[in-house]
Amino acid sequence: MVKIAVFASGNGSNFENLVLKMKDGLLKGDIVFLIVDKKNAFALERAKKLGIEAIFIDPKSFSSKEEHEKEIVSNLKERDIKFIALAGYMRIIGETLLKEYEGRIVNIHPSYLPELKGKDSIKRAFEAKKDFTGVTVHFVDSGVDTGKVIYQEKIVIDKKWSLEELEEEVHEREHKIYPKALNLIFDKENF
Ligand code: GRF
Repeated sequence: MVKIAVFASGNGSNFENLVLKMKDGLLKGDIVFLIVDKKNAFALERAKKLGIEAIFIDPKSFSSKEEHEKEIVSNLKERDIKFIALAGYMRIIGETLLKEYEGRIVNIHPSYLPELKGKDSIKRAFEAKKDFTGVTVHFVDSGVDTGKVIYQEKIVIDKKWSLEELEEEVHEREHKIYPKALNLIFDKENF
């Protein structure tokens, strides 16, 4: 099975959910590695509990984005990683990683793209009183949330929901669709 690395910056609920799905035999890939760019990312705790190898690669200890990404690539190659799933990784993927992995990096975004690209999409959907938002899994290219869509679902926003309730709905939906979207890719292509 394809060896996958997950990249995260914070909470890591999508990471944990993917690993649990894998452990239940519901993911057609093998998550073997977590990379974080924040020392205190809670995703690290989750990895420990789940028995998944995890490392923190500190962007601040490199002179450039290129050097940082070279270190990432070397760690990925050492472990024979063929595919990257971003899950709350708050960093734009640069040329060095794209050159090695373009077409093999995906991201999950909490909106119905191309609506609400970028940060704080759930909050922006809530504040703009949108009728719907959604969740999108897409390939990563050099833009921000611009790559080809793999799978997306709409979420109709109940006007009675608080922001917290909307966030809960979105995360719940993310946990359903990320494994599904990955399986769609792995069904079609061998990496
Ligand atoms: C998710 O909403 C994801 O769509 C976005 O960042 C958030 C990460 O959540 N890219 P978590 O760290 O997986 O809990």
